[in-house]
Amino acid sequence: MEKEMVIVLDFGGQYNQLVARRVRECNVYCEIYSYKTDIQKIKDMNPKGIILTGGPNSCYEEGAPTYSRELFELGIPVLGLCYGAQLMSLVLGGKVEKAPVREYGKTEVFVNASSALFEGVGEKRVNVPAAPIAMAGHERNDNATQCWMSHFDYISALAPGFVSVAHTADCPVAAAENKAENLYAIQFHPEVLHTIEGTKMLYNFVRNICGCAGTWRMDSFVETSIKEIREKVGDGKVLLALSGGVDSSVLAALLAKAIGSQLTCVFVDHGLLRKNEGDEVEGVFGPNGSFNINFIRVNAQERYYAKLKGVEEPERKRKIIGEEFIRVFEEEAKKIGSVDFLAQGTIYPDVVESGLGGESAVIKSHHNVGGLPDFVDFKDIIEPLRNLFKDEVRKAGLELGLPEYLVYRQPFPGPGLGIRIIGEVTGEKVKIVQDADYIYREEVDKAAREYKEANGSDPSWMPNQYFAALSNMRSVGVMGDERTYDYAVVLRAVRTIDFMTAEAADIPFEVLQTVMSRIINEVRGVNRCMYDLTSKPPGTIEME
Ligand code: XMP
Repeated sequence: MEKEMVIVLDFGGQYNQLVARRVRECNVYCEIYSYKTDIQKIKDMNPKGIILTGGPNSCYEEGAPTYSRELFELGIPVLGLCYGAQLMSLVLGGKVEKAPVREYGKTEVFVNASSALFEGVGEKRVNVPAAPIAMAGHERNDNATQCWMSHFDYISALAPGFVSVAHTADCPVAAAENKAENLYAIQFHPEVLHTIEGTKMLYNFVRNICGCAGTWRMDSFVETSIKEIREKVGDGKVLLALSGGVDSSVLAALLAKAIGSQLTCVFVDHGLLRKNEGDEVEGVFGPNGSFNINFIRVNAQERYYAKLKGVEEPERKRKIIGEEFIRVFEEEAKKIGSVDFLAQGTIYPDVVESGLGGESAVIKSHHNVGGLPDFVDFKDIIEPLRNLFKDEVRKAGLELGLPEYLVYRQPFPGPGLGIRIIGEVTGEKVKIVQDADYIYREEVDKAAREYKEANGSDPSWMPNQYFAALSNMRSVGVMGDERTYDYAVVLRAVRTIDFMTAEAADIPFEVLQTVMSRIINEVRGVNRCMYDLTSKPPGTIEME
C-alpha cells in the first residue's frame, strides 16, 4: 500500500512543527520541507496535499521566500496559512498589502460553513459585523469561531477564481478558496490551540479535501518499523546506548521486539540519575524484565564523582559528563567487539531543528552526549524514530508495552543531577537532591491526582517540568534545640509548551508547605526550602 503523505512547506514560521503535528493528529502522515525544495522532488513524493506555513516576511518584498506558480497547478490541493495564504494570493494574481489594522491574538472570525474547509465549524451568530471591504463573490459568513491572528499584511484583492470564505471585523479575507482548483488560504493559525476549532479545519483539509484515508497510526508504525528493522539488520548485531529517557527506552523496546538478542543495550549509570531510576531501567530491560536482549549496566558513579571533584563551572561539568559517557560507552563497546549497527534515538524535532527538515534551523544548544563515539566499530547507524514527534514516541512506547511511568517521564537533562547541584558535585549532595526531588515529585503527583479525581481534569497549575535542585548555599537554622548550618533546596516547577519560554507554576501553597516540611524532616543536611518564581526568559528552566 502506498503511504499517504501531506507535505508542509516551511516558510520560516515559528509554528511549522505544530502544523505537522496537528496533521498527524488527524492520522495523516506528514513531513516538513523547506520552501526551497525543488518542484520535481515534490512531484516525486506524490503528496496528497501541500500546506504552506506562516513566515516572518512580507511576501511582496524583494527577495522574500516564494514559490513558483507551478506548485498551485499540480492538481494537488494546497492550503496556505498566514504568510502561505498571502503568498498564494500574490503568486496567483491577487494583491497583498500592509493591513490598515494589525490583527494580533484571539479574534472572532466569521466563517462560511458551506466551505469544505469550515464544515461543522463555528456557531450561528446574528448581528455579524460586516467585512470592512465589500468584495465580489463575498458570501455572507455568519458562523462565529475564535481563531489566533498574527499578521501585519492582508489580502486586499483576491486572486482570480477565489472567493472569501471568512472575515473578521477588521479583515475582509480571513480565508479564501478556489474550489475548482482545490486551493485554500487561511489568514489565521489553525495549528495553535487558541484557534479553538483549528484541528477540525485541518482535518477538513487533509481528510475531506485531500481525501486522505487516515491510516497513520502508532500500531501500524510499530508493525512496519519492526519489518523494516528486520530487513535492514538481517542477522547483524546492534548496539544502543540506553539512557533510560523516553526516546532511548522506546527505541530499545522497538529493537528488542524486532531483533531480540541481536541487540545489546549499554546503560551507563553515572550516579546523576533520579532516585531509583537506575533500578527502574534495569527492572524493565535487564534480565528480570520482559525483553530478551543483552543488557549491560555499568555502575560508573564513583568514576564520575572523581572526575567532577572540585569542578564548579556548569559548562565544564556538562562537558565532563558528556565526554565521560562516551569513554565508558566505548570501553564497553570494545569488550563487545565489532557490531554492524549503532542505534540512535534521534526524533523528528532533532531532524527539523538541525536544519535538515524545514527552514527554521535552530542552533541546538543541548547535547546529551559529547558527539558520536570515535572508537566504536560499527558499519552503519540506524534511527528508527527519526520521523516521530515526541507524543508519537510515547504512543509507540505504550504500544510496545512499556510502563507508563517510563513513557510519561518528564524531560530530564542528559547531564542529569550534575546540573541540578550548583557548584561542585559530590556523592553526598547527589543523595540530598535525589531524596528531596523524590519527595517533591511524590507530593505534587499526589495533589494533581487528587485534583483530577475530584474534577476530572488536570489542575491549571499542573507543571510540565518540576524538580528539586540543590543550591550551594548553606545557612543557619534551628532544629529542636540545636543550631544547624545546612543546605537550601530549591523547588522548581514550570508551565511551558515548548520549553523555550516558561512560567513558574502556581502550585497551591499547602502542597509546597507539605513538601517543605517533609524535605526538612526527612532529608538530612537540608534546613531550608525555597520556591523559584523566575520565568524563562530571563531565567532558564534548569539552574545551570
Ligand atoms: P533550560 O534550562 O535551557 O532547559 O531552560 C530547557 C529544557 O532542556 C532541558 N535541558 C537539557 N537537556 N541536556 C539535555 O538533554 C542538557 O544539557 C540540558 N539542559 C537543559 C531542561 O531540562 C528543559 O527541559
